[in-house]
This record gives sequence, C-alpha cells and structure tokens, in this order.
Amino acid sequence: MNDDQRDAERSYYIEPMRLEDIPEVSRVERRCFSNPWPESAYRRELRNPEGNHYIVLRQRQESSIEQATVAEPRGRLLLLPLLRRPERRVTDPIIGFAGMWILFDESHVTTIGVAPEFRGQGLGELLLSTLFAAAIRRDGQWVTLEVRVSNRTAQALYVKYGFTRQGVRRHYYSDNGEDADIMWSASLRDPDYRERIEELRESLFARFRDSGIEIEMRDS
Ligand SMILES: CC(C)(COP(=O)(O)OP(=O)(O)OC[C@H]1O[C@@H](n2cnc3c(N)ncnc32)[C@H](O)[C@@H]1OP(=O)(O)O)[C@@H](O)C(=O)NCCC(=O)NCCS
Repeated sequence: MNDDQRDAERSYYIEPMRLEDIPEVSRVERRCFSNPWPESAYRRELRNPEGNHYIVLRQRQESSIEQATVAEPRGRLLLLPLLRRPERRVTDPIIGFAGMWILFDESHVTTIGVAPEFRGQGLGELLLSTLFAAAIRRDGQWVTLEVRVSNRTAQALYVKYGFTRQGVRRHYYSDNGEDADIMWSASLRDPDYRERIEELRESLFARFRDSGIEIEMRDS
C-alpha cells in the first residue's frame, strides 16, 4: 500500500444525499438495520428538501487523487500526484448516512448508520453532529428520535449529546415488536447547551486530527 492509498483510507467527506445515492444508501442501511426503509421512502424524502435534511458519508478513494503527467526537459515522464479536491466521485463509497425531518422548531432524526467496519472512529458522532449543525442553521429548537430499548451503543451516543429519555413507544419496531425509547435534546436556544454541542464538535475534530483522519464537509 502506498502513502496515497493510506491517506485516502482515512479520508472521509460528508455531503447531501442525492436521488442517485439511494440504491447504495439502501445497501449500507441493510447492513445497519434489521428493518430498513424501502428505497421509495428515501425518494419521497429527497423530493421534499424543505422538510428534511439527509446526508451521506463517503470514503475518499485513492483514485480521487488526480494524477497529471508532466514531461521533463530530457523527455522522461514524471507522474505528479496532485492533491486537488476532486468533484464528487461515484467511486468514493458511501459508508454512512443520516437524516432528519424538520417540522417547525422540531428536528426528528429518522435514521443514522455507519457501515460496521467503519464504526468506533467517531464517524457516527460526526453524522449526528452534522445533523445538529443543520438543525441550528434552520433555527430548530429541539432534536428528537426513537431508539430501540436494546440499542445501548446508539443510546450512549445520544446521551453524550444531551438527549434524555422522555417516554416509550410500545412495540414500535415491526420486525420484532421491540419498544422504542423516545429521546429529546435540550433546547438548542439555550446558550449553555449550544456551547456544549459546539465543544463536542471541536473535540471530535481534534480527535480526528490526532488520529490522522481527514474530514471534509461539502455543503452539508
Ligand atoms: C450508532 C452508530 C451510528 C454509532 O456509530 P460509530 O461510528 O460506531 O460511533 P462513534 O465511533 O462515533 O462513537 C460515538 C459515541 O457512540 C457511543 N458508542 C460508540 N460505540 C460504542 C460501543 N461499542 N459501546 C458503547 N457506546 C458506544 C459512545 O458514546 C461514543 O462516544 P465516545 O467515542 O466518546 O465513547 C453505529 O453503531 C451504527 O451504525 N449502528 C447501527 C445503526 C443504528 O443502531 N443506528 C441508530 C438508530 S437509533
């Protein structure tokens, strides 16, 4: 493995989900959830961008590093790798996704997932933090979601972001009849909570820098 390949493996970017991403998002989603959405549900969502916000997380591939061929004076050819920020490339695989509905001052996280082999590096947190940033940008006040009562990993992430359990939806999940915890954030208009959310994002990006992980945000 060369240096470019190593760098690319630890290089990710977030961008808005597009209609053409749906089949790939669905493939990743099936690896994350036992009750994935039909593709038609994503299509419906993406056709109504005022009412929601959906993003994908891609891993930059080595092929994204453009190669330019430059002729040296003595006629030898030199390959110069140009670390140019490429336009979006279909070869950069989707490894995570997230989305929420936005209704008045309420943002309802509908889905969030990271492909199993990419978990534990802060990428799920990056997706959640990006949804928070979008909710704040759109003047939302509350973030809410449902989570399986057995899903301790996701619950730990939500508690880290100040969510508290406010109720239960009985037999919410159709695949096994499991209950859902209903969780709510604190108010995004509370300056102390906003500061906490911003601090979490800063320490997440410091962690990425320390571990040599490159993150780029593209219009998300
Ligand atoms: C939930 C999910 C998105 C987390 O993604 P991830 O990239 O593994 O999580 P991160 O590395 O960003 O971890 C963020 C936080 O989540 C919690 N967390 C992550 N992995 C955990 C684990 N194995 N055990 C307990 N908590 C864990 C921790 O609070 C962690 O913060 P920390 O790093 O300060 O300890 C991922 O596990 C996933 O895709 N699960 C399947 C889909 C799903 O359950 N989605 C939620 C539906 S409500």
